[in-house]
Amino acid sequence: MDVFACDVLVVGGGGAGLRAAIAVAETFPSLAVTVISKVYPMRSHTVSAEGGAAAVIKPGDSLDEHAYDTISGGDWLCDQDAVEAFVREAPAEMVQLEHWGCPWNREPDGHVAVRPFGGMKAQRTWFAADKTGFHLLHTLFQTSLKYEGIRRHDECFVTKLLVDDSRCQGVVAIELATGQIQAITAKAVILCTGGCGKVFPFTTNAAIKNGDGMSLAYRAGVALKDMEFVQYHPTGLPFTGILITEAARAEGGWLLNKDGYRYLQDYDLGTPELKPVLKSMELGPRDRLSQAFMKEQEKERTIKGPYGDYVHLDVRHLGEQVINTKIPFVRELCLKYAHVDPVKEMIPVRPVVHYMMGGIHTDIHGATPLPGLYAAGEAACVSINGANRLGSNSLTECLVFGARAGKAAAAFASGQSEPNPAVLAQAHDEQRRLEQQFLFKAGGTERIATLRQAMQEIMEQSAGIYRDASTLQQAEGKLQQLQERFADVALEDHSYTFNTELTAALELSYMLDLAQAIVGSALQRRESRGSHQRTDHPGRDDRQYLAHSLARRSGDGSPRIDYLPVKVTRWPPGERIYGR
Ligand code: FUM
Repeated sequence: MDVFACDVLVVGGGGAGLRAAIAVAETFPSLAVTVISKVYPMRSHTVSAEGGAAAVIKPGDSLDEHAYDTISGGDWLCDQDAVEAFVREAPAEMVQLEHWGCPWNREPDGHVAVRPFGGMKAQRTWFAADKTGFHLLHTLFQTSLKYEGIRRHDECFVTKLLVDDSRCQGVVAIELATGQIQAITAKAVILCTGGCGKVFPFTTNAAIKNGDGMSLAYRAGVALKDMEFVQYHPTGLPFTGILITEAARAEGGWLLNKDGYRYLQDYDLGTPELKPVLKSMELGPRDRLSQAFMKEQEKERTIKGPYGDYVHLDVRHLGEQVINTKIPFVRELCLKYAHVDPVKEMIPVRPVVHYMMGGIHTDIHGATPLPGLYAAGEAACVSINGANRLGSNSLTECLVFGARAGKAAAAFASGQSEPNPAVLAQAHDEQRRLEQQFLFKAGGTERIATLRQAMQEIMEQSAGIYRDASTLQQAEGKLQQLQERFADVALEDHSYTFNTELTAALELSYMLDLAQAIVGSALQRRESRGSHQRTDHPGRDDRQYLAHSLARRSGDGSPRIDYLPVKVTRWPPGERIYGR
């Protein structure tokens, strides 16, 4: 076994992870930082973010308005102290990124350009055409390279957190190229491993988004917060689930049903005065737009396709020049993956799982209740997104809370003694587990793909846009059975070199944990709020559920749910209003 030591270990090389690593290197230059990632950092899912990153910049906008939009968009489940910190620190993070080289789009007069985005009442979404994630990640990656204190372990897959003396002291990982087990000790660990969209069958998420960090924390006894809140983005390409960015609607695209009718005008998007304001209805919040699609489907006003029902996104009236300059990637994706040219044809779209509002329970500094363990980005739930995240808040969240977690972890690490060498015994135990349970195991009758497909179907049927007690209860039982069947999984590949079957098995085991946490949390929340719509409990119930769910793993592996009150600072719960 290879043993490495560092001061701060960042798991995940995406936006939050790289921002955290840079924050450590900047604030405590003497600390040794290691970034460990199961993919090369530029292949992290941040790269695929398209539409933009929100931060107040224009005259007439204000931090309070950004905070209010975020809180009302989140159906009052956001912690308001976290949102206030978020909107306050967001503009400086964006300017910092500019100084590091991010090519933000500009107005003709040289000012930074911003576009409108769903649920945001002011234009505050900074963008780099519709490849914002690519440019943001590239900027962070090239910046990280200049710090000698930052080392990388690329293509290494973390299988366990090392915890001793009630403190997180490192991880165990597999080096994918060789199959060698690594023990990496650290005085603080930051999990920035993204979300778990792959728990569902139809998602914008890359194949790598299996909730690794969420499950690692959950297994180490840390609660997962608000896991029932799963965001459907209203516009994914049927079959692939590839995201067609909200920027297409921000630039003026329309959503049309099978009769060519802008159906959103028939729905309550949370704004009574919106009806006549047809130009902005496509920029309603994602939860409401996805629910409107389901209603259109019920009314048989969607279009039948080989990969499920869809509606049309029409951007033809924007003209070729706007499409080529503001949303070129939309055109490229449609041409390549749907054989449709948006300049001349309408784009088929349907709601698709996009983002987990829930995640590892942290405080406003990214600290989990387990000393030495931090989390940031989609893996974490601070919480600024509540029951429904507004588009373009998540890239900014990666920056603001990546930086916060980095600084807090560095301060913690600088006051800690060296990790206890006894944790290495745990690493040896983990190596034995991986060999006995997977690599050396003979027999076993269950197939990874079969179990994964079964899990995804259960999740779609029970934990989709609309839910009820009876399907959620059935899902609980079926997921428990899948957990039991997983014990009998067989690998065909017993080699060490790039054993992708082994990583697929481990990823499935993580996802099964998270599927149980999502379903368990959804079953307990007997109300409808944001993205969590219970047909058997249609109203929001602030008396009982103005609270975060906390799912803790119990002895038999199933989740045990309790609640933590939401922090309200200045905005008491009210109606969601979007018109302006
Ligand atoms: O539609 C989009 O570009 C997605 C943005 C986001 O999820 O923040």
